[in-house]
Amino acid sequence: MSLQDNFTQSIITGYNSSNAITLGAGILNGSPIKEAQVKIPLKTLNRHGLIAGATGTGKTVTMQIIAESICSAGIPVLLMDLKGDLSGISKTGALNAKIEERHNLIGIPYAAKGTTSELMSISGGSGIKLRATVSEFGPVLFSKILELNETQSGLVAMLFKYADDKGLLLLDLKDFKALIKFASEDGKSDLQKEYGNISTASLGTILRKVVELESQGAEQFFGEKSFEVNDLLRTNENGEGIASIIRLTDIQDKPKLFSTFMLSLLAEIYSTFPEVGDIEKPKLCVFIDEAHLIFNEASKALLDQIESIIKLIRSKGVGVFFITQNPYDVPESVLAQLGLKVQHALRAFTEKDRKAIKKTAENYPISEFYKTDELLTSLGIGQALISALNEKGIPTPLAAVHLKAPSSRIGVISQDELNEIVSKSKLLDKYNQVVDRESAYEIFNKRLEEKANKSEEDVETETPKTSKSKPEKSIIEKATENTMVRQVGRTIFKELTRGLLGALGVGGKKKKGWF
Ligand SMILES: Nc1ncnc2c1ncn2[C@@H]1O[C@H](COP(=O)(O)OP(=O)(O)O)[C@@H](O)[C@H]1O
Ligand SMILES: [Mg+2]
Repeated sequence: MSLQDNFTQSIITGYNSSNAITLGAGILNGSPIKEAQVKIPLKTLNRHGLIAGATGTGKTVTMQIIAESICSAGIPVLLMDLKGDLSGISKTGALNAKIEERHNLIGIPYAAKGTTSELMSISGGSGIKLRATVSEFGPVLFSKILELNETQSGLVAMLFKYADDKGLLLLDLKDFKALIKFASEDGKSDLQKEYGNISTASLGTILRKVVELESQGAEQFFGEKSFEVNDLLRTNENGEGIASIIRLTDIQDKPKLFSTFMLSLLAEIYSTFPEVGDIEKPKLCVFIDEAHLIFNEASKALLDQIESIIKLIRSKGVGVFFITQNPYDVPESVLAQLGLKVQHALRAFTEKDRKAIKKTAENYPISEFYKTDELLTSLGIGQALISALNEKGIPTPLAAVHLKAPSSRIGVISQDELNEIVSKSKLLDKYNQVVDRESAYEIFNKRLEEKANKSEEDVETETPKTSKSKPEKSIIEKATENTMVRQVGRTIFKELTRGLLGALGVGGKKKKGWF
């Protein structure tokens, strides 16, 4: 057999378009071999993946190709768009000379097609508002974004417990601030009786951090209506997966908020989706562009969380794909779990770069067709080294691949196009109304009002004593009455999430590990 036959044989795996996605054609001696089509079985997509490479080598476009192909196969995707350049997936691509040449080389006809998309925002930008309540976030994650120490986190856990016990809803940051105020003033003695000593200084610090968080625009994120992750599982009228694009262009300088948001979202998905085991195709694939932002500033403990959840979420039929420059931006514990590795060109500018290239090359299986380290620096734009799993979960031989072009548009869409997508969204009515129902803030406020009225009355009628403790109780009772029923559904969900985080070693009483 000739080398080329040998090569083609090593790549042809017998998949078809109904059980695999096609990425491009294998490259041998610098040229794409049309017969050697490189396919990834749908079945392996919940085994996670990585797309790495230097800036401008084609990572984001590769992610777009994979994501749109997955949608075409009926699987919805969730895209974390940190630069705004993923929105193009929603629009039909346009054939140009370069794309025509690319497709001629790989022997795949170019088919222009957009993907049905939803645009979402966690920061009040254009799109469906993705929000979570403070209660749902839970004390552990909430303390984490506030960067609290152990004592302060303990106090936050206590405040959550108190709110739970009294049926007080903690929806937005206003509610939480009202609760802190209550705990440091009127409610202090009550709380101390039940939960032990409360440090006013710690409460002050927590309050200051909440205000700081607010000033970062987080008040847009906390509140109702909280997002239901099942809405990420929608398909369009043709049975194709919908791409949910979370626009995060303004979160780049807030990596802690981003990593916490990601972890909470994955935790929610984990606690909401049923166990499915190994299936023919995943239920959802999540793509995180510029993933180094999650990992760069994450503590060891947060990394442990991400590692655990990545491991666990597989069984829910969810695949997670990281896109980043250097593979070592992703912790080795996570790297070790990835089924698909797409490595675009690396650049050897510095000694550190050369070391990274050597390390990367060594981590790929030895190939009879390539000198991996040389190839790593000589791959062109839109070419990549790919190592995948076959349908039995066994790694396939390393293949250099000349990738196809996306069927959708490369790059950003205009504000008008963006507005159009948002205005047509079926989720708009559900999530973009301002809701501010009676929660802790309103209840505490009412209480103050009542108290003020009371004291006026007290002066008038001169009956100071007996009425003192009464309003306090009735307010709590009232709060419980008003909120209990609505709280139930949420609480079940919340407990699941908290339970999960507990199982991961960070939840509930176990305060250690986050710092
Ligand atoms: N598979 C491809 N087909 C066509 N053009 C591509 C492909 N990959 C990359 N390109 C071109 O290269 C540019 C940079 O790619 P991009 O994915 O944004 O790089 P990165 O994310 O690695 O910085 C794209 O805007 C596009 O013009
Ligand atoms: Mg990019």
